[in-house]
Amino acid sequence: MPKLTINDMEIEVEQGTSILQAAQALGIEVPHFCYHDRLTVPANCRMCLVEVEGGPPKPAASCAMACGEGMVVRTDSEMVTDARKGVMEMMLINHPLDCPVCDQGGECDLQDQAVGYGFDRSRFAENKRAVPDKELGPLIKTVMSRCINCTRCIRFAEEIAGTPVLGQMNRGEDSEVGTFIGEILRTELSGNLVDICPVGALTSKPYAFKARSWELKKTQSIDVHDALGANIRIDVRGREVMRILPRLHEDINEEWIDDRTRFSCDGLNKARLDRPYIRDEDSGKLVEASWDEAFAFIAGKLKGVKGAEMAALVGDLAAVEDIVALKDLMGAYGSPNMDCRTDGAVFSAASRADYLFNSTIAGIDEADAILLIGTNPRYEAAVLNARIRKAHFERDVSIGLVGERCDLTYPYHYVGPGMADVEKMVKDYKGKMKAKRPVWIIGSGVFARPDGAAIHKALYEAAKELGVITKDWNGFNILHRAASRVGALDVGFVPQGKGGRGFASILEGTKDGSIKALYMLGADEFDARAEIGWKCFVIYQGHHGDYGAARADVVLPGAAYTEKDGIYVNTEGRPQQGKRASFPPGDAKEDWAILRALSEALGKTLPYDTPVQLRTRIVEEWPHLGEFDLIQPAKSVAVKGAGKVLKAAFKNPVKSFYLTNAICRASDTMSKCTDAFKGVDEKMLEAAE
Ligand code: SF4
Ligand code: SF4
Ligand code: FES
Repeated sequence: MPKLTINDMEIEVEQGTSILQAAQALGIEVPHFCYHDRLTVPANCRMCLVEVEGGPPKPAASCAMACGEGMVVRTDSEMVTDARKGVMEMMLINHPLDCPVCDQGGECDLQDQAVGYGFDRSRFAENKRAVPDKELGPLIKTVMSRCINCTRCIRFAEEIAGTPVLGQMNRGEDSEVGTFIGEILRTELSGNLVDICPVGALTSKPYAFKARSWELKKTQSIDVHDALGANIRIDVRGREVMRILPRLHEDINEEWIDDRTRFSCDGLNKARLDRPYIRDEDSGKLVEASWDEAFAFIAGKLKGVKGAEMAALVGDLAAVEDIVALKDLMGAYGSPNMDCRTDGAVFSAASRADYLFNSTIAGIDEADAILLIGTNPRYEAAVLNARIRKAHFERDVSIGLVGERCDLTYPYHYVGPGMADVEKMVKDYKGKMKAKRPVWIIGSGVFARPDGAAIHKALYEAAKELGVITKDWNGFNILHRAASRVGALDVGFVPQGKGGRGFASILEGTKDGSIKALYMLGADEFDARAEIGWKCFVIYQGHHGDYGAARADVVLPGAAYTEKDGIYVNTEGRPQQGKRASFPPGDAKEDWAILRALSEALGKTLPYDTPVQLRTRIVEEWPHLGEFDLIQPAKSVAVKGAGKVLKAAFKNPVKSFYLTNAICRASDTMSKCTDAFKGVDEKMLEAAE
């Protein structure tokens, strides 16, 4: 543990810590461009120069020099100040300085550091060089003349995203960054390049010339495009969401978000439901209505319908408040028929440990063996996939896959296609496992088949036999895809009691007439027109004109996740608060408020009038939902499952990464990505094989 002095302040650091990191730990700012704390260190920008007293009489690159015992370092000496001015002057020789038309303006490291540490004139009168722009696909805009060759993008693509298509070509003044053979940049994490590029060489294509950072209202919130609950910032102007950026959360998303989270925000302004609709019985078309007309219509249709003849389904994007309000309304009618597993998944939810990502996401950093079962985490949770990749490359953790082969961006051992291969593995490895912290990641799609419950039980027993679940470690992880799922399971939005009907049975009931009324809260994950019987009365409450609204008899316009406060519980069981960044369009309202108003019109008034009263009711029954950002450890108990496991191979449920929910399906940017990247993954997989 070397002890050193920086600007007269003493610090003791871990062996191998760089001077730059030590200075940052002391709160001393050292300007830098190429250094990034999650990437390897190339030390090529020379902006981080410091003076090491007693060392060679020249400034040293602090990002690449390890702290040594007794070192005396100055970051504020005359030598350092002059060196920084010189580096900045050299850097700006070729930089176009087109800040007024640059999308990075106002949030540019080069601008800031030029003001803070640069020289106020240049001695170079030569022409500036021009570098041809590169085509990186529909998400990243390039202006390569602005590139300062820091190589952060190259290192990110190779080390974090696992798509090493970027590189530096040529030498000296001709150096440029690009794709080696004009290949398109195919990664679900490409938007992070915009954040890590310290200048305006790589910017967001959909956001180009739309707004300046100081015009935007910034709200800290939670993502809903998968079940990780990535921490995000929503930037709005007026009521339009202009862009979405990541926030740091080391235990969830570190500082990354995937392209669906970042770039689907144009979908929030398209195909929106902004007023109630009622289906006209003669023409069969949905016609506009007022809230009173819609509520009166529903009240008329529900008259005489018994609780057992009603059902409710909750979609993938609902907040806990909305789910509880709907559950309470169903309870007021005495209906036991409800389900949140609208992908058809059947698994035990008797104990929380049955359905959580028990090792936690950060637990991947401790894992010494990882087995993926029936999942492609690259499509189901791209940011988690980057963490698995990191485990493999930083700590050489071995990774196995059971299920459909896919390109995961890292090598893996292919175990086989189905449950029989897991059973064979148990036989072969029982008692011989060397791993102390093995992790199994089971895709929620594994349970969306008729033998889902039996598979759950069989997997649990196999995990026990191989030491994945022990007294002090639970590596049995379910990877959900829906942001609403764990919250809905926590509040018990599943069939109630013995007579309660689940998703498949409810759909069956709409066809055979035993379910006469169905309430769909944002349930857009299945083709409602094909799956719901036409005699059933369907109420759809949601924010987009998607699958659910197409089948509805009444449409009630709700709020998207950016337009309401709400609790979301992520796949590891961590409750987090989403915040309202803008208002819903037209007559649309927050979802819990719609349910509250409807309950009054139906004569079943719910006992809360404000969001605070609703949250109080929630926390009284489920106290853990009030403890934000904390994971309550769940005790593992034997999973109960019925039936026989079928021989069929596991199938990955997500076929198109960019079109997984109603917001993405309404987004032009996501459609462009789907077209641009069609077949690229398959080709990469073929090439790898
Ligand atoms: Fe100006 Fe920064 Fe853009 Fe360069 S990258 S033109 S310094 S805003
Ligand atoms: Fe660095 Fe940006 Fe150039 Fe990449 S494009 S090398 S991140 S300046
Ligand atoms: Fe040290 Fe670039 S940050 S050389």
